[in-house]
Amino acid sequence: MSETKFEAQKEHPANLRLGGIGRHVGFNNHKHRRFVIEFKDVMKQRRAVNYFDPTKDITDMQLKEIIEIASLAPSGFNLQPWQLIIIKDKANKEILIKVAWDQTKITVAPVVLIVLGDREGFKKGNAGFEKDFAESVKAGIMKQEQYDWFVNATNSLYGASSERQLAFACKNAGFFAISLMLAAKDAGQDSHPMDGFDIDGVRKAFNIPEQYWIPLLLAIGHFDKTKTLLPPKWGKSYQEIVVNF
Ligand SMILES: Cc1cc2nc3c(=O)[nH]c(=O)nc-3n(C[C@H](O)[C@H](O)[C@H](O)COP(=O)(O)O)c2cc1C
Repeated sequence: MSETKFEAQKEHPANLRLGGIGRHVGFNNHKHRRFVIEFKDVMKQRRAVNYFDPTKDITDMQLKEIIEIASLAPSGFNLQPWQLIIIKDKANKEILIKVAWDQTKITVAPVVLIVLGDREGFKKGNAGFEKDFAESVKAGIMKQEQYDWFVNATNSLYGASSERQLAFACKNAGFFAISLMLAAKDAGQDSHPMDGFDIDGVRKAFNIPEQYWIPLLLAIGHFDKTKTLLPPKWGKSYQEIVVNF
């Protein structure tokens, strides 16, 4: 582990109050002041929290803000091939937990998002694809006569094989998912990503069409401070990350 990472983790003991590092910014008028966590602290404080506080809800407005901030995530050609199913009510949580390895956080967290990656999001006729092209023309980034070029470009990149198609859906939905986790942390919430679930079971239970892959489930809520968070996990060092072949 690099020294920097080690130092960062030392600063970050397991029972550090989540959301505890930050500062107030804004005008003197109290109404306009906001508690801001620095980006590096958002990164350090985002943890997969196993225990959520069942007494703390997340409002629809808070969730909408988190989703809107996360939707600024980058995607290939800005195609944004991601969707979300929001699971908030008890009945749907009971259905979901049965196909998600009985992970208790599904029923305890106030909200669980089923993250979807659209395997067809690069194809002519797909709503996201068509909107992306129309918006690009409107913004002057592309010309109407480039439509066929655009169809061919995205098809040759992402439609070359089913593997490429899946990679397209998953990498972009993954960028969106980490943005959701960081946006949640920035908004004072915690999260937990999960791939311990039965894809076919979730698909069937929530009528998810085949065109969508389900890269992960994401629980969002407040960490239960009566529980102890696991110590920060090990992280690859710079030397371990950088390779040459
Ligand atoms: C895509 C993905 C899937 C994961 N699936 C699960 C899961 O099903 N159950 C679980 O307890 N943790 C799951 N985790 C949490 C990881 O174990 C955790 O993020 C990792 O150990 C690093 O810990 P940290 O997020 O607290 O830094 C998942 C994480 C990711 C990114």
